[in-house]
Amino acid sequence: MSQDQQAKNNGQAGASQVAHHLTTRQGQPVHNNQSMRTLGNRGPAVMENYQFLEKIAHFDRERVPERVVHARGAGAHGVFEAYGTVGKEPASTYTRAKLFQEKGKQTPVFVRFSTVIHGGHSPETLRDPRGFAVKFYTEDGNWDLVGNNLKIFFIRDAIKFPDFIHALKPDPVHNRQDGGRVMDFFSNSPEVMHMITWLFSPWGIPANYRQMQGSGVNTFKWVNKAGEAVLVKYHWEPLAGVKNLTQKEAEAIQAKNFNHATEDLYTAIEAGNYPQWELFVQIMSDDEHPELDFDPLDDTKIWPAEQFPWLPVGKMTLNRNPENYFAEVEQSAFGPGVIVDGLEFSDDKMLIGRTFSYSDTQRYRVGTNYLQLPVNAAKTHVGTNQRDGNMTYKLDVPAGVNPHVNYEPSSLNGLREVPQTTVVYEPTYAAAKIVRQSIDRTNNYQQAGERYRSFEEWEKEELISNLADTLKAAQPAIQQRMVEHFYQCDEDYGRRIEEKLKEVKEAGVIA
Ligand code: HEM
Repeated sequence: MSQDQQAKNNGQAGASQVAHHLTTRQGQPVHNNQSMRTLGNRGPAVMENYQFLEKIAHFDRERVPERVVHARGAGAHGVFEAYGTVGKEPASTYTRAKLFQEKGKQTPVFVRFSTVIHGGHSPETLRDPRGFAVKFYTEDGNWDLVGNNLKIFFIRDAIKFPDFIHALKPDPVHNRQDGGRVMDFFSNSPEVMHMITWLFSPWGIPANYRQMQGSGVNTFKWVNKAGEAVLVKYHWEPLAGVKNLTQKEAEAIQAKNFNHATEDLYTAIEAGNYPQWELFVQIMSDDEHPELDFDPLDDTKIWPAEQFPWLPVGKMTLNRNPENYFAEVEQSAFGPGVIVDGLEFSDDKMLIGRTFSYSDTQRYRVGTNYLQLPVNAAKTHVGTNQRDGNMTYKLDVPAGVNPHVNYEPSSLNGLREVPQTTVVYEPTYAAAKIVRQSIDRTNNYQQAGERYRSFEEWEKEELISNLADTLKAAQPAIQQRMVEHFYQCDEDYGRRIEEKLKEVKEAGVIA
């Protein structure tokens, strides 16, 4: 008699059936999943109802707070392969980060793409920047490159971020996004002009996640073995080419499918059509560059490619879908403060603000021990004296280390500091007053005007129409202020917005 047969005869399940057995999380078999325990079959229910209470209590807690921004997202696993070079030079000239050193060196990655403003199930066709966050699981620990598809941002000082997001989120009274509030904030923050010139053009609605660019947006640094630093910008270029949507095309998709980008990414990877991006850097010496008409630390500016060429450093391929959306995508946690040796922060005020915000929100959103979750955990040695807290899953104590010692220093075989073998990067600062001031070279309009002039006629039409469509909801004084900003970017830009706005107001609807 087989073991299965024997087990059946004994009234037990065979090994092959056990896999399908429904149990509680305590491992107890569930024999009736249809009825709770009640006093008689008409109730009332009794408190000794563990199976029911566990099921409902867990259901009640199925959501963690969604991200305050970038709530709607899709993710995938993959690999980054280094070229070993930065353009034609060895990577080591500029950075000692191990993942870039050798040609063909592979580093596993997890990527999350997202939209910014609206909630977890909002349409993926909305005009919005797209998040492009990459977690590199390097041998020196994790590096998160948390970027967007567009190369610049709306504001340049982190203290403005909550106001900026509040203006774009739904109105706190009636819970609808309101172009009047959006334009109110924009009209009082002229540094947004360059970004909105991109955003209201077709670039504001990427066709999908596979065919969009990515950018670190903020300025970072690279540090080499000698401890010398340069300023860098990161850019991802999709090998499938860039594809954007007009407003009408987006509306046609949205009428039938509000998950099109998630669907596109998932089905492409399932079909073996793996999305790929090449990673480029732009490099500048680490100083203020007074010869430029912008500050290299200003994230509202593009570094002109003619002066600062895009240098290829590697290629990324996404080749595996998550097995579980919540566990891997929803709980993934990225932060611009997460870097490895050979990479550094610049003094970019937005970047410094960001380095605090992400891990702070993740401790609240996912929990104190979010870094123990598989998608967030480093795939290298981890040894810490951090203990306890909500959802502690394991001890970060490797075999051979005394588990009684959760402090350092200790002479009882606890964790010890790692000897420093690289030259420490120690930037120096000239004596300066601590102030609350904007940077000097704001130059809010020039690159916006250049961008406008670079568009083809159909793109200009799209831009003007999309801007007027949002601007029509604003009060006349705000409209006037915005028109003045557009004139400062470019005479033709201002005139066409002014005319379109008049036309829209007269018609009462947008064409
Ligand atoms: C001071 C300015 C900024 C602040 C304070 C800020 C803050 C945040 C916060 C709190 C989150 C939610 C993180 C989470 O819950 O896991 C987030 C997500 C994100 N932010 Fe920012 N952000 C800022 C600017 C930017 C900029 C300039 C970019 C583009 C380079 C950017 C790209 C992203 C991306 C891609 C995500 C989603 C990450 C993911 O997929 O989980 N943010 N940001």
